[in-house]
Amino acid sequence: MDDLYREQILEHYKNPHHFGEITDADITQEGDNPLCGDVITLYLKLDDGRVGDVRFRGRGCAISQASASMLTDMIVGKPVQELKTFPTKDLLEELGIPISPARMKCATLSVNTLRVALNGDSHDEED
Ligand code: FES
Repeated sequence: MDDLYREQILEHYKNPHHFGEITDADITQEGDNPLCGDVITLYLKLDDGRVGDVRFRGRGCAISQASASMLTDMIVGKPVQELKTFPTKDLLEELGIPISPARMKCATLSVNTLRVALNGDSHDEED
């Protein structure tokens, strides 16, 4: 496993980007991993059909929280219409390490929560 990527994940975990809340968010969505009880909450502020601002709060393993942090970097400023079909594999690539089936729920918690936030369904796309 590549140490550089591990370091990047730990860095996001320790200093998550866009961490916090948006009190007047247009969309607030909580997601959880039922296997472990870890949670994240996404706050989205929309601006002319785009994600104007995003914040998240969460509690969980390094992979789930780092992936949420990375996801916020990837979606800010993007058109909502495009993000409705945000490919899970893009986030997995950003994580940069092989994700075992056992950790897949950790790695995809944030993107699944985003999908529910924007589409209102919990379609679980994992590949
Ligand atoms: Fe709970 Fe990873 S162990 S999300």
